[in-house]
Amino acid sequence: MKIKLPVLPFPQDSLVPYISENTIQFHYGKHHNAYVENTIKLISGTDLENKTVEEIIMASHNKEDMVSVFNNAAQVWNHSFYWNCIKPDGGGNPHGSIEEKIDDSFGSFENFISQFKSTAMSQFGSGWTWLVLKDDNILDIIKTSNAGTPLTSDVKPLFTIDVWEHAYYLDYQNRRADYLHVFLEHLINWEFINSQI
Ligand code: FE2
Repeated sequence: MKIKLPVLPFPQDSLVPYISENTIQFHYGKHHNAYVENTIKLISGTDLENKTVEEIIMASHNKEDMVSVFNNAAQVWNHSFYWNCIKPDGGGNPHGSIEEKIDDSFGSFENFISQFKSTAMSQFGSGWTWLVLKDDNILDIIKTSNAGTPLTSDVKPLFTIDVWEHAYYLDYQNRRADYLHVFLEHLINWEFINSQI
């Protein structure tokens, strides 16, 4: 099977003090791992058994009898992408191609941060906030609910923040705004974003 839990791209305690080792142990080791195990169980013995996670997502999207497959596979992909979007000693101002694109698309870095935070705060319940590249080479900020993923649309994801409570509740309880602040200020991996453009 091609579905597996990816290796975390940083040590589990390396995001302290912004994200605790305890949060990573649960988020990566329990939640992400459970989505992987559930997907494997659901596709075992089916036509999807040897497909990639992207193929499984596309095959199950909007299929009434495959809601669980889609939800688990999309969460596998979303989380694998999310871990790449952050790094120890990340954050700061953007550089390279993304800096120029942010200025072109949002007017300024400050406007981008403000719009990103406001979109992430307005996601009701569980979901994700994404920076995406549209066909016309302009950046946009979108949100998806639950396991929703931009892979099923015609935009290219460059960056995401997981706003499910399991991403921040152990460290920040209900204070999603504080989690968003440290994420954007100290963890965002601009090199990864540039590599996706
Ligand atoms: Fe999550």
